[in-house]
Order: sequence, then structure tokens, then C-alpha cells
Amino acid sequence: MSPDDKKRAAALAALDEITPGALLGVGTGSTVNHFIDALAERGPAIAGAVSSSEASSARLRGYGIAVVSLEQALVGGARLGCYVDGADEIDPGFAMIKGGGGALTREKIVAAAAERFVCIIDDSKRVPVLGAFALPVEVIGMAVPLVTDWARELGAQACIREGFVTDNGHPILDLNGLRIEDPTALEARISLWPGVVTVGLFAARGADVCLTGTDSGVERSVRGG
Ligand code: A5P
Repeated sequence: MSPDDKKRAAALAALDEITPGALLGVGTGSTVNHFIDALAERGPAIAGAVSSSEASSARLRGYGIAVVSLEQALVGGARLGCYVDGADEIDPGFAMIKGGGGALTREKIVAAAAERFVCIIDDSKRVPVLGAFALPVEVIGMAVPLVTDWARELGAQACIREGFVTDNGHPILDLNGLRIEDPTALEARISLWPGVVTVGLFAARGADVCLTGTDSGVERSVRGG
């Protein structure tokens, strides 16, 4: 089975995780694109979606699925029941690297508003230790030289993502060469650097459920389970 077939299988399985009639958080990326397609073609009707990117919003709207702002969704202290998104890497504790598609900031915000994070991946994304995939950091432009220096002190080489700005209008630095043994500590540390908008480590709020597409079907695993 190809990686894309595995992504599609995991995306399809995520339909069973969502609550019919509720608002749903929707992430970004090729796996989520499969999820949006499946939701439109055979998913339960939902009240609407809170999207983490302009790209996902356009795809949802293309199917006639209502896109609701997060501010609207949270009126009266409400929370989203479920957020469905992919990952670039996920470790055994369900901490993730995300942001390969550049949507990390809105992804982290929408994920924070959800009671459950359902991660959909192919099996190449499961790793014993995070860091082989370059860690994305969304940065205010004027802070790029400083963040590059601080990354070097961590032992990482920061590369600007050429020709790319996020939906929020900022550049991304990709940090290469890290071996992330303590993702929660590193997320907290990088988040404190002045000029950092968001680091693509999702550890303080990791995944709750992981649906992994494999050659032998979709494996469902639960954090701590
Ligand atoms: C988007 O910014 C990312 O966080 C994606 O969720 C991640 O890169 C996974 O993407 P794919 O589903 O395309 O592999």
C-alpha cells in the first residue's frame, strides 16, 4: 500500500470519531484533504467546521460544508468536541512535530479549543524520538537572525523556508539536527524566545487518539493506552 493509500485509510477511519451534528475542528495537509473528501462523500452531517488554514477552508467550502470562525464556535464558553489533523512525526507519548504545511499556529489554536485531538497518519510518521523531520517555527520577520542564533545554541541549523509565508503573514524557520528527547520542555523553551509566534511541537497538548494507516489496516491507539 502506498503512503497516500495509508493516509486515505486513516482519514476514512476518522469519520467514526466525530459526533454527528456537532462542530468539528479540521486541520491541514494531504491527510486532512483525504478526510475532508471522505467527510463530504460519506461522513455524518456536521453543524460546521472550524478550519486551521485558508486551504482547508476553501476545500470545505467547495463541498458546501459551513466554515465557522473559532470565535463563533466558542461563544458561551463552548469547546469543540474533536479536532482531526495529521502530523509530520509522532512519538510514543503522542507528542508531535507539525507544521510541514505551514499551518502550525492556527492548528495549535484550534487543537487547544478541542476536547479530543484525533491524529491521522501513515505509519512512516511514527518515530521513537522526534526530530528527524525539521522542526518548523513561525517567527516574526525581524526576529529571524536572533531565533537562528538561539537555535544554533540548541545544536540546530535553522533554514528559512524559501518563498513561503504563513496564512498569518510570517516566515517559517525549519530547525534541522534536533533529537527531541523531552518535547514538552523544548516546546516551552522555544515558545519563550522573543519573536517566536509558534513552535511546531505539539507536546503540552498532544494527540489523544492516533489512527495509523498500515499495510494491514488502520491501527487505533489511545494516549497512555
Ligand atoms: C500542516 O501545517 C501540518 O501540520 C500537517 O498536519 C502535517 O504537515 C502533515 O501533513 P500531511 O498530512 O500532508 O503529511
